[in-house]
Amino acid sequence: MQIRMIVGSEMGNAEMVGDLVKDELEALGHEVEVVSEGGLDEAGLDACETLLVVSSTTGLGDVPQNVEGLYDELVAAKPDLGHLRYGLVGMGDRNYKDTFCGGPKKWIEILEACGAKPVGEALLLDATDHPAPDEDAIAWLPSWLAALEG
Ligand SMILES: Cc1cc2nc3c(=O)[nH]c(=O)nc-3n(C[C@H](O)[C@H](O)[C@H](O)COP(=O)(O)O)c2cc1C
Repeated sequence: MQIRMIVGSEMGNAEMVGDLVKDELEALGHEVEVVSEGGLDEAGLDACETLLVVSSTTGLGDVPQNVEGLYDELVAAKPDLGHLRYGLVGMGDRNYKDTFCGGPKKWIEILEACGAKPVGEALLLDATDHPAPDEDAIAWLPSWLAALEG
């Protein structure tokens, strides 16, 4: 499969998870293109069918700054992403209570508003009880791939 991967990370945790997930997907024979900056033009979401979002949360439930431009353009333009199937690995911290995993939840909201189809269970990781999010993401990956194939 050709997989586009949006990686939103403020201080490197989600970036590390994204790097390892990319390596694992490539080891399984998939082609992965990472989007970690720029807007809609750079993301090329019209030209792909499978998307994986790996995103942490910053501010008060916000998407990380490196993907804020892309997120804002999606909200403003609401392009038709009906051709797109996506999975999500989200990261946050329960100490932020009401805004727990707000960044990933914003991705889910906007992707659904654009007509993209969620595939598999989104993985929402709480830093307080998931000290190794990379291992959790790698363990989750087979279920997402199975859902895509099933
Ligand atoms: C300034 C700041 C604000 C944060 N705000 C939230 C938040 O609103 N909700 C949440 O669930 N986690 C929040 N977090 C926790 C991060 O999402 C979490 O630590 C994550 O692992 C960071 O990953 P990153 O290094 O890829 O950005 C915040 C962390 C920082 C440093």
